[in-house]
Amino acid sequence: MWRFSVHVWTLWLLFAGTFSEDDLSSCEKQPCQNGGLCESHDGAFRCLCSQQSQNGRLYGGDNCTTAHSGCDDNQCENRGMCSPLLVHGEHTYKCICIAGFTGPKCQTPSVFSFETKGYIYVETQLLDPEAPLNVTFSFRTERPYGTLLQRRVDDLLLSIELTDGHLGLRSLEGQGSSTLVQELPEYLSNNKWYTVEASLGGAVSVIQLLYTEESGTRASISEVQLLEPAPALPEPGSVRHSLFIGAVRGNWSSGGGADEEDHPSAFLGCFRDVLVDSRLVLPSAVPGGSDAQVNVSEGCSDRDRCDDSPCQIRGRCVSQGWRSYTCECFRPYEGDDCAEEYVTARFGNQDVENYASFSLDDEPGDSVNISLFLRTRQSSGLLLTLANSTSQYLRLWLEEGRIKVQVNNFETLVGRTAISDGHFHLVTVMLKGMAAMLFQSARNQGHMFIRPIDAHTGDLVSVGGLPDSRVSASFGGYFKGCVQDLRINNKRLQFYPIETPVESYILEQLVNVAQGCSSDNACAVNPCLNGGVCYSMWDDFICNCPPNTAGREL
Ligand SMILES: *[C@@H]1O[C@H](CO)[C@@H](O)[C@H](O)[C@H]1NC(C)=O
Ligand SMILES: *[C@@H]1O[C@H](CO)[C@@H](O)[C@H](O)[C@H]1NC(C)=O
Ligand SMILES: *[C@@H]1O[C@H](CO)[C@@H](O)[C@H](O)[C@H]1NC(C)=O
Ligand SMILES: *[C@@H]1O[C@H](CO)[C@@H](O)[C@H](O)[C@H]1NC(C)=O
Ligand SMILES: *[C@@H]1O[C@H](CO)[C@@H](O)[C@H](O)[C@H]1NC(C)=O
Ligand SMILES: *[C@@H]1O[C@H](CO)[C@@H](O)[C@H](O)[C@H]1NC(C)=O
Repeated sequence: MWRFSVHVWTLWLLFAGTFSEDDLSSCEKQPCQNGGLCESHDGAFRCLCSQQSQNGRLYGGDNCTTAHSGCDDNQCENRGMCSPLLVHGEHTYKCICIAGFTGPKCQTPSVFSFETKGYIYVETQLLDPEAPLNVTFSFRTERPYGTLLQRRVDDLLLSIELTDGHLGLRSLEGQGSSTLVQELPEYLSNNKWYTVEASLGGAVSVIQLLYTEESGTRASISEVQLLEPAPALPEPGSVRHSLFIGAVRGNWSSGGGADEEDHPSAFLGCFRDVLVDSRLVLPSAVPGGSDAQVNVSEGCSDRDRCDDSPCQIRGRCVSQGWRSYTCECFRPYEGDDCAEEYVTARFGNQDVENYASFSLDDEPGDSVNISLFLRTRQSSGLLLTLANSTSQYLRLWLEEGRIKVQVNNFETLVGRTAISDGHFHLVTVMLKGMAAMLFQSARNQGHMFIRPIDAHTGDLVSVGGLPDSRVSASFGGYFKGCVQDLRINNKRLQFYPIETPVESYILEQLVNVAQGCSSDNACAVNPCLNGGVCYSMWDDFICNCPPNTAGREL
């Protein structure tokens, strides 16, 4: 059970030598029970009760005969240790909390974390603005970079930052660039707890590593004053002194000067037992939130976020260190968690104009990768052209169900297998310098030598056909089918934009192109003869023929 250090014993022994015979006499009767030590003066005695439990109990009272019962009904939470007390004859107790908890019963966690960029604003106006601020805190992270703390004193910005796993103190005066004041030699970005004491803003600002997890020392704070959370961020400029746990950008930290590039990355990780001038900072549970604290989470969970399988549709989750991840999505899925799908565009009719056009706003030059998902049952149709003001230097169309690629009106490459089977196919055309290659679902369909193209800003990408129906007709007519997730060099060409912001080329025209990939109702015209029953398929039908008849449309 409860064991306590034996400082009291040693203290007594130190003084034992000075006691006289007389003094000891009142102790001869050995009035102190349960391992208590007797101390006598002026004929009276006093018992120093043992702080080690006797038969599982601590004793107090004049003769160490009163069993402490304050902890019989241990009320300390979160593995806090209960220490029984006898105060004015009343049995009571005190909880000694493990690091990360506070309050009379250790009921309040003092651990919080930043899972994304965030901060807590601490109102230092209430403290002495001129005096150096004494801040102690423990932190834990795997990330080698991040801003843990920022203190502004007039024109001076002091920040505690991790750089390459080393904790440093930087100062930035006015609009200048920041200088490294001090750097700790230890590597601290190893997911262990470290405790740091900092004195910020006095004549000399310093940081100091107090102890590490290995050294076994644990802070036990159970009775501390809480620093009242600030209700809101004050107006920029109205406060000359501020303290931020985490990192804040803009006027708060930079004095309006330095731009985003100058700032180190946000701290992602956990804080514990943050004391500002001996007052504990806790994230407040403000319902609805306040701008005085942003993106703060209670607790410190170091579970790999990828364990939750956040990436949808088999997207691959890649851990990015402490509690962060990215998803590598399979096409045509997109978004942080791959939950969004690119909107399919339906080109409906071969006989009616339908096309879309986009303009290039960059300089791909002679390197152009075009890829798209394609679904059709038509064996011919114009898929895509790339043109500048004088020539269509790239064309893709369908002929006998196969993809044809033509560069500079001349060199032509043809797919080996037909794709007009009503299923989606990923088609990729790669042009680089003097080489052109065609892929269907990652299968190489062949390559050819070309005269290099030169794609420029302002060049037009037309999909599904061209405004000029005669030109369209000479390459199989308007396309009928569906296109999804069209990209040129990883930049998207979106017919109907998704919510996730992605880099896209500008849509110029969208003529008779619908959203989705609905089917023609091919059975509507009763194609099955002789009483056959028509079943609809995507852009097609099948006839279930009566006995003695056969064929598609009998
Ligand atoms: C403590 O011991 C003394 C001497 O033995 C005795 O006179 C006294 O009554 C005891 N006090 C208590 C509270 O038991
Ligand atoms: C809070 O987190 C969100 C999501 O990561 C981020 O977009 C936003 O910028 C953060 N807010 C601040 C003030 O850092
Ligand atoms: C900073 O504050 C100044 C004036 O107080 C304002 O003009 C400027 O736009 C602010 N800059 C930023 C980045 O908020
Ligand atoms: C700073 O605060 C810590 C925790 O409250 C305290 O232990 C330490 O003595 C203080 N240091 C100074 C220099 O005031
Ligand atoms: C258009 O492209 C062709 C082939 O790449 C090129 O020869 C021609 O100079 C380009 N015209 C303009 C105006 O850029
Ligand atoms: C085109 O794709 C190939 C293969 O994926 C890649 O190596 C190349 O960098 C891409 N080119 C451009 C300009 O994106």
